[in-house]
Amino acid sequence: MTILPNFIVFEGGDGSGRTTQLQLIAEYHTTKKLWITAEPTDSPLGCFIRELLHSELTVQPETLAMLFAADRHEHLYAPNGIIERCSRGETVICDRYILSSLVYQGLTCGESLPVSLNKNFPLPSLIVFFDIDPAQALARIGNRLVKDSYEQYAFQTQIRERYRRLLPHYAKKGCCITTVNAAETVEEVQKTVQKLLNHASI
Ligand code: TMP
Repeated sequence: MTILPNFIVFEGGDGSGRTTQLQLIAEYHTTKKLWITAEPTDSPLGCFIRELLHSELTVQPETLAMLFAADRHEHLYAPNGIIERCSRGETVICDRYILSSLVYQGLTCGESLPVSLNKNFPLPSLIVFFDIDPAQALARIGNRLVKDSYEQYAFQTQIRERYRRLLPHYAKKGCCITTVNAAETVEEVQKTVQKLLNHASI
């Protein structure tokens, strides 16, 4: 399994503060050699996925798993995508990646489809897991206007358990895994994240 050396992924349940931290990183690191990105992406396909998550329109969970994988394929292999940027020496930090599919779609459509859809994608060198009690995370989300269908307590509890169960497998595959206590204040989490990035020379 290929590991992309300059590729860092932030993972965690909904409301775990990943996106806030990425915004802060973007403010402090304005170098052209850093690309901060997210999945679902902001491509038409990614926007369509977000629309599906936020609307009454439903598709089969398997269809959603395939859409996430298709969006990821484009994100990786399209011109100026993750692979191209990493190979020209840029660092890429991505909000969510393969593990999100294994965790979320693993719960909604069983393990085998997301595993097979994602098995050939390269792995990040570092996964930062934002760990937080789902009750606290959902209280944060309560302030947001748009909620998606996955944001319920029981579901988020299963999401957390699943992350914790799957992360060690990625350590065995050669990814470096770091768990951040996402229940801390934004400033405290920011300090921890910054230390990690310094360690990764960013
Ligand atoms: P976010 O903008 O908070 O990251 O929300 C995106 C939602 O999409 C979140 O509920 C998790 C879900 N998701 C999956 O179910 N599978 C995936 O592969 C990805 C990238 C996201």
